[in-house]
Amino acid sequence: MPRPRILVTRRWPVAAEAALAERFDVDFNRDDVPLTLEQLGRALGEYDAVLPTVSDKLPSSVFEGASVRTKILGNFGVGFNHIDIAAAKARGIVVTNTPGVLTDCTADIAMLLLLSVARRGGEGERQLRAGEWTGWSPTHMVGSKVAGKTVGIIGFGRIGRAFAQRCHFGFGMDVVFYNRSPIDPHEAQRYGAEQLPSVEEVLAVSDFVSLHCPGGAENRHLMNATRFAAMKPGAFLINTARGDVVDEAALIDALEGGTIRGAGLDVYEAEPQVPEGLKRLENVVLLPHLGSATEETRTAMGMKVVENVTAFFDGRELPNRVA
Ligand code: DGY
Repeated sequence: MPRPRILVTRRWPVAAEAALAERFDVDFNRDDVPLTLEQLGRALGEYDAVLPTVSDKLPSSVFEGASVRTKILGNFGVGFNHIDIAAAKARGIVVTNTPGVLTDCTADIAMLLLLSVARRGGEGERQLRAGEWTGWSPTHMVGSKVAGKTVGIIGFGRIGRAFAQRCHFGFGMDVVFYNRSPIDPHEAQRYGAEQLPSVEEVLAVSDFVSLHCPGGAENRHLMNATRFAAMKPGAFLINTARGDVVDEAALIDALEGGTIRGAGLDVYEAEPQVPEGLKRLENVVLLPHLGSATEETRTAMGMKVVENVTAFFDGRELPNRVA
């Protein structure tokens, strides 16, 4: 039996690439140059499995080729809003993702953003490196205290819970959250958190609002001008979820107009493009989608893809099937 032909769209950590190469006939993207839509479409006609990642766009048009050989898209990443799942399904393609292994690291990045924007870490470092720091003074770069404040979490999945745990047990914050489905209050209490019935009720009481819901059509622009206006005056927004959950133009207006006090962002609507309007604001901390970017987590993500694809070609149940 010939080994399944597999295409990996970007470079992976060495150990994960090695594990794939042991089991499959793999073409790696040695140059790490993102594939075009056309190349991705062609790959679906030539490979048994394609292993894309969160920065590859797979809209419905990519699945329209005359013949599709690909049986599985093993996504390197937990988010899959870059893949038109319905179109993949319609061509009989299974999709898997990598949940669980990036929970802690993504929650850490949300915490980093919360602390950085509250305590003005980015501003301080820029000032010091520019040689503009004139020394300690009682009024120099005064930020906002974190302990005792309320954080509102939108989306209480794995990452939302890990973030709640850090905020409550690590930093002495009160935690409320909104989640589409009800969470057992005892489970919520394990993370020091209380569920509220609506996004609005969370916004009304939160000094920090942190987004942990999926991207895609259902949550597109969940944070918009109306919702920014519903936040507490002086509150901060943290986004480590997906860029499209936030209406970036409305966010810029809210920051410029003082509707909210600051924002910490790891994700953007049109990555890697980041609006100039955000870049010129001092009260915004901007990271380049680093949520899962640790050696341990990126390797574990690759290994999860290997597990899923191996299970698929062995005819076993898939650990992380999303479609
Ligand atoms: C994911 O896996 O969806 C993350 O955004 C990557 O960090």
